[in-house]
Amino acid sequence: MKTIARLLVFSLAAVNCFAAPPNQANEAQTQNVAIEGAAKPSAAQETPEQNDLRMKWWREAKFGLFIHWGVYSVPAGFYQDKPVKGIGEWIMNKGKIPMVEYQQFAKEFNPVKFNADDWVKAAKDAGMKYIVITSKHHDGFAMFDSKASPWNIMQASPYGKDPLKDLAAACRKYDIKLGFYYSQAQDWNNGGAASGGKWDKAQEHDMDDYIDKVAVPQVKEICSNYGEFPSIIWWDTPTGMNTNRAQKLYDAVHALKPNIILNNRLGGGFKGDTETPEQKIPAQGYPGRNWEACMTMNDTWGYKRDDNHWKSTREMIFNLCDIASKGGNYLLNVGPTSEGLIPQPSLDRLAEVGKWMKANGDAIYGSSATAFGGELGESVKAKDGYGHDTTVSSANDWRCTTKTGKIYLMIFKWPTTGKFELAGLQTKVTQAYLLADHKKLKFEQTDAGVTLLLSGDAPDPIASVVCLEIADASAKVSIQK
Ligand code: GLC
Repeated sequence: MKTIARLLVFSLAAVNCFAAPPNQANEAQTQNVAIEGAAKPSAAQETPEQNDLRMKWWREAKFGLFIHWGVYSVPAGFYQDKPVKGIGEWIMNKGKIPMVEYQQFAKEFNPVKFNADDWVKAAKDAGMKYIVITSKHHDGFAMFDSKASPWNIMQASPYGKDPLKDLAAACRKYDIKLGFYYSQAQDWNNGGAASGGKWDKAQEHDMDDYIDKVAVPQVKEICSNYGEFPSIIWWDTPTGMNTNRAQKLYDAVHALKPNIILNNRLGGGFKGDTETPEQKIPAQGYPGRNWEACMTMNDTWGYKRDDNHWKSTREMIFNLCDIASKGGNYLLNVGPTSEGLIPQPSLDRLAEVGKWMKANGDAIYGSSATAFGGELGESVKAKDGYGHDTTVSSANDWRCTTKTGKIYLMIFKWPTTGKFELAGLQTKVTQAYLLADHKKLKFEQTDAGVTLLLSGDAPDPIASVVCLEIADASAKVSIQK
């Protein structure tokens, strides 16, 4: 066994292998293909009722906070005073930074301003119901107390405390679920795989040995040391995973947390519970599957000090409504600094989204997808958050969600004609009101559908929500196309 790759060398080495990083940041490899000829993965068997029960909280939650936090927040996008292109947490890979040198950054990782209560409260006030934080990203740095590798926050940083413990306590206090992102396959310091090849001899290591000595023991640690948490394990980039490797991780997790929710990025043929479109919202969602779109607020997941390309609050509220209207969840990211602070522009946006959610959250939490579909327009070609080809909905004027007995209309473009037509709606509507203040609205219903009579300016500058109550709550909303 080559342990050398896992030993931390804390001497500064001269760097002569810096290569200009490629332009494109994203190395996501979310394909989940079983290795040809390999054994089929064995997953826990459950009835549809058991599955519904296990997934219930997640399906109702709709909105969560993603946190990418680790040693990469120290270089914050810069290496040897030069900006490194791409997403911040990939700096070691993109900058081809040798292990010994990257490990020096941990010595400056001292998040003394970190306050778990503040972070969880910011998520709670934003209307979020769960948090997923990077317990270990591709750089392999464990943000928790780990016996399986010294490359962890307790031993390799001056901070010397386990922030996941504080987060678990604060999540308990605010009734927020806590999930852990864990990079099971790529690990650039402990000898796991590396997307795009290894760039330092010290990274040469046997992947099975890494799985057995680092990944499996660490997954056991994160599933044992935080009480009822994690509620989710969020795997990523299954580079080099095969069924055998994935099965070991799957079994380790399930022995400790049988009700856990796993995403679709474990690899080795495991489907997982959730689809994870990244930086995009599929035009039609994923009918029949749980899905969660993860998206950044600027152009990076991990903190980069020069990334000020912030999305507007409006865009985030639109995304939340768009995703809910297609039956998915929205996992919105923040990248805290090495001092332990969530950047102010992120906090501002979280607070603004929270204000909207406070008045209109009923249209989101526990909702199901639209009863209509025509409002999504056509599926048209577009670029995702990485500049890759994707398809999106062509129409953005309004979105719809449903619940038993209710139809919610989230109106982004308030009609100037005073009329909002819901062509084809056959189900008998008993009343219509503005969700924010329950102000009754006039409407007409004929065989052709429902017309809402909306006068004046939009009540909400971003999205005004109208709730329609239907006569027979048990009836399926019927639309004549
Ligand atoms: C990609 C990236 C990773 C990021 C993740 C979030 O897979 O590799 O850095 O954590 O996307 O979805």
